[in-house]
Amino acid sequence: MTRGECDGGLDDIYGAHDALRRLAALISRRARPAAIFAAVTREVRCRAQAATARMIRFESDGTATVVANEGTGGPHVRVGHEWSGFPEAGITSLVWRTGRAVRIDDYRDLPGGGLYVSEGLIGAVGVPIFVHGALWGLIAIGSCAGPLPADTEVQLAEFTNLTATAIATAQGRAEIETSRARIVMASDESRRRIERDLHDGAQQRLVALALRLATLSGHESVLPPVRDKLERTARDLLDVVDNLREIAQGLHPAILSEAGLGPALRALALRASLPVTVGVDVPSRLPQALEVGAYYVVSEALANVLKHSRATHADISAATADGLLIVTVADDGVGGAELANGTGLIGLRDRVEALGGELTVDSPAGGGTRIRCEIPEGGDMVLLAQNPGVQRKPA
Ligand SMILES: Nc1ncnc2c1ncn2[C@@H]1O[C@H](COP(=O)(O)OP(=O)(O)O)[C@@H](O)[C@H]1O
Ligand SMILES: [Mg+2]
Repeated sequence: MTRGECDGGLDDIYGAHDALRRLAALISRRARPAAIFAAVTREVRCRAQAATARMIRFESDGTATVVANEGTGGPHVRVGHEWSGFPEAGITSLVWRTGRAVRIDDYRDLPGGGLYVSEGLIGAVGVPIFVHGALWGLIAIGSCAGPLPADTEVQLAEFTNLTATAIATAQGRAEIETSRARIVMASDESRRRIERDLHDGAQQRLVALALRLATLSGHESVLPPVRDKLERTARDLLDVVDNLREIAQGLHPAILSEAGLGPALRALALRASLPVTVGVDVPSRLPQALEVGAYYVVSEALANVLKHSRATHADISAATADGLLIVTVADDGVGGAELANGTGLIGLRDRVEALGGELTVDSPAGGGTRIRCEIPEGGDMVLLAQNPGVQRKPA
């Protein structure tokens, strides 16, 4: 390790302060948990001028996982893999059993410590990470130069506290995202049910009624003026059926479930009362939540084009690239679309964000409107942040 890259040591208060500030900035930028864990572990190793630093998470099934590793490699410290084979009297076991900061002054005296001796380590310190009062894991640092300084545990605590805050924040965010996704799914499900009920119930009965009226009107006992009225009523009924079909289509079109996003978007474009070009380059089927989300984006954006834009032309595109589904709807109308001015676009943003995606609106006055959304194909798993912590209080 060179100086400059890692000035100071844990007693270098200004250096530690800078490190904590850098980490806090990373956390506030909503960096991924894995990146935060790696950065904390790197800073800790630097500050402590330690040979190795690791962050280890306890799992609810009694195992542990290395979530960050700095200083040495080797098959026993692969990030994301089970952390196993650690000695009974070693740092990980001790922190797990006691929920407290622990230290080893000489691995050569420790039964089972050979693995660490072979990494060149002599001493080590481990400090627990508690999230919302539950033991989540630990940060461990190792030294090749003998026991670590007496205040190492105290100095490390600032870093474990910061890590705990980052984890708690990520967990809170993940919970919000999950509950948002649940709400969206529930509303999709009820839209599907209403569509089915309309299709199988009201629509069919109205069609049957219209047929019955048409048959009646043909009966010889019916006088011409009454026949006219009956026939007009039958036609009106069929108009209502069309209306109803359109409403049902807007709820959750059968073509989307049956044929997928491409055909459903083309059908939307065909129904529009202005020229719409469609470019679709997606696999024939995508996960249902993704197809439905993308469909509603296009359906609402196109409704806006018709309602607000005075455009002469619109363009729909949907494509997958680098694990993202990217959908845009653009028009050459008056522009000036504002999320704050309605409920349609805001609803779309909520829906897209619930899928871990992003929706942007570019609509300069006079310059047309472009709605763009990016949705991760696999639904971005919030790696390593879901673990709520192992319920274990300090001994
Ligand atoms: N394509 C567009 N062209 C021009 N203005 C638009 C367009 N889309 C939306 N807007 C404007 O942005 C507002 C917000 O849109 P939206 O949230 O869908 O609300 P609304 O329920 O009014 O359609 C609309 O009221 C409209 O003034
Ligand atoms: Mg709208």
